[in-house]
Amino acid sequence: MYKKLPIPKSTNFLEERILEKSFKGIKFSREELAYLLYELDSESLYALADKIRKEQRGNLVFLRAIIEFSNYCRNNCLYCGIRRDNKELKRYRMKEKEILAEAEKLVLKGFKTIVLQSGEDPLWDAKRLSKVVKEIKKFGVAVTLSVGELDYKDYAILREAGADRYLLKHETIDKKLFSWLKPDTTLEKRIRCLFWLKELEYEVGAGCIIGLPGQTLDSLIDDLLFLQELKPDMVGHGPFIPHPKTPLAGFPYGNPELVLKIVALTRIILPYANIPATTALGVINPVYRIKAFYAGANVIMPDLTPEKYKTFYEIYPGKGIQKFDLNGWLETFRKMGRKTDLSPINYH
Ligand code: 5AD
Repeated sequence: MYKKLPIPKSTNFLEERILEKSFKGIKFSREELAYLLYELDSESLYALADKIRKEQRGNLVFLRAIIEFSNYCRNNCLYCGIRRDNKELKRYRMKEKEILAEAEKLVLKGFKTIVLQSGEDPLWDAKRLSKVVKEIKKFGVAVTLSVGELDYKDYAILREAGADRYLLKHETIDKKLFSWLKPDTTLEKRIRCLFWLKELEYEVGAGCIIGLPGQTLDSLIDDLLFLQELKPDMVGHGPFIPHPKTPLAGFPYGNPELVLKIVALTRIILPYANIPATTALGVINPVYRIKAFYAGANVIMPDLTPEKYKTFYEIYPGKGIQKFDLNGWLETFRKMGRKTDLSPINYH
């Protein structure tokens, strides 16, 4: 599946050297990343990442509550269940008041970040969304947006309204693969958006879908090299999950073990990043979401969209039916020796 890159025999790959480079923020070469991905056994790789996570970010897990407020999307991404050609999907669009009521409930439960996510819905333009952002900011929490590619001026309006962070996964840095999978946009445009967001001083989130049809391991190293240049504040990686109502139905699932390796490598190259244990990992098997916390992850982003809408935000199968058991997770984190940023005073 991949061409093996020449691995020089040197001391560069000793554990201490990797840790030193990571802590000092020295960039890793393609050869070093190839060694870590292809040659080092998974458990050693996870252990390195876990060490770095502990050293750099401690034992605190950040919980970020997601509200998926609209599943309308003008795009036709080949992998995604809410693509515009999926005519069988019931579409919904939450009202401003509904979003605010949900956000308030979550703030009262103790969440410190509200993530507003949607398809690229033309009816939810920046002006309309900025009003919601302003209202949520009054609750005294951070607001993360994840609403796709917009113009610079729209990102600026939303930043001005108080949005703190923006998630825009780059999905894959393989140009050909990207344009096949995302016929409505280009990789160039995607990257431009990410740099605009940085310029506007958002905390920026990027990340990949891993195991896409035609994706090579070498191209995942390109993804890591790209992340090393972009230096995002957050990086979320998930496995590809084939959706039956898309042109990619029938393609194999992404390998969750490979996702964990890329999560670990991301922690090594970006030691301070916020890295979520993604929902998609848990959809393949809940155990992988736990494992991610031992491979560099320090964030969980529960989907807390109201039940009546949740099943319709089916970007991949199995997503909407996952119920997030908050108390169960808090207990799991406690057993793992991790603290959370959920404020216990407000929690009830
Ligand atoms: N499998 C895995 N991840 C997917 N996403 C969308 N469709 C799929 C799929 N079929 C991911 C993309 C997107 C995020 C919201 O969900 O990375 O950015």
